[in-house]
Amino acid sequence: MAARRITVLTGAGISAESGLGTFRDKDGLWTKYPLEEVATPEGFARDPARVHAFYNARRANAAGAQPNAAHLALARLQRAEGIDLVIVTQNVDGLHEAAGATAVHMHGELSRAYCGACEHRWDAPAVMSPEMPCPACGAPATRPDIVWFGEIPYHMDAIHQRLSQTELFAAIGTSGQVYPAAGFVQIARQYGAETVEINLEQTDVAWDFDDHLVGPASQMVPAWVASLIGEDPGR
Ligand code: OAD
Repeated sequence: MAARRITVLTGAGISAESGLGTFRDKDGLWTKYPLEEVATPEGFARDPARVHAFYNARRANAAGAQPNAAHLALARLQRAEGIDLVIVTQNVDGLHEAAGATAVHMHGELSRAYCGACEHRWDAPAVMSPEMPCPACGAPATRPDIVWFGEIPYHMDAIHQRLSQTELFAAIGTSGQVYPAAGFVQIARQYGAETVEINLEQTDVAWDFDDHLVGPASQMVPAWVASLIGEDPGR
């Protein structure tokens, strides 16, 4: 029998219980930092030191974080017999990988650096600064390998292809406010997938989904995974 094709989209909420802040919740990052100054190419051109400082702090936080029960459950689902799971994440932390899963990072990764001059990519040092030269071309044009507002997310063709073939689509810990990720549920539905939203609360886009599991990801995701693969949810 063919493996069941499941696609999961994760957002900041899945990493909240690992101690990493979300963006739009009360006390979220975008309530403390002006998004247009730290997460746009224009903000980077105006003040690269400020943008590097913002991502250096996030890289330090992520380096100290551990995957939680939700990341671990998705890793189990990915390994389970009869399941073909693709995890697409908007998160730039490495917690899916730390849990033993593979994930498609549509918004880039804190652990990677990118040269705006020659497009070379390499492992980011813990602390980046504007004067740091690219190891390939020497230009002082290095930036975090993060997709900013106004830029095109990575792997969009492959993600679209996957959504067109998925049987079950789940959005976990994402507010559904940022496109194109916010539109994935409609694409999956259009191709006939069942859809489920797993979130601490019903979001403003909850009506896009067939089913809703409301509660913290560390509880809801292991229970959902257990229901899919028939394991003991207490594991
Ligand atoms: P948001 O901060 O917009 O949304 C976080 C979601 O997680 C909210 O819907 C919360 O209800 C939910 N949440 C919080 N704690 C949770 C928990 N313990 N369990 C389950 N759900 C929980 O974050 P994203 O949707 O990921 O992009 O934001 C999308 C993109 O906007 C980010 O990738 C980032 C941001 O600007 C860029 O920086 C380009």
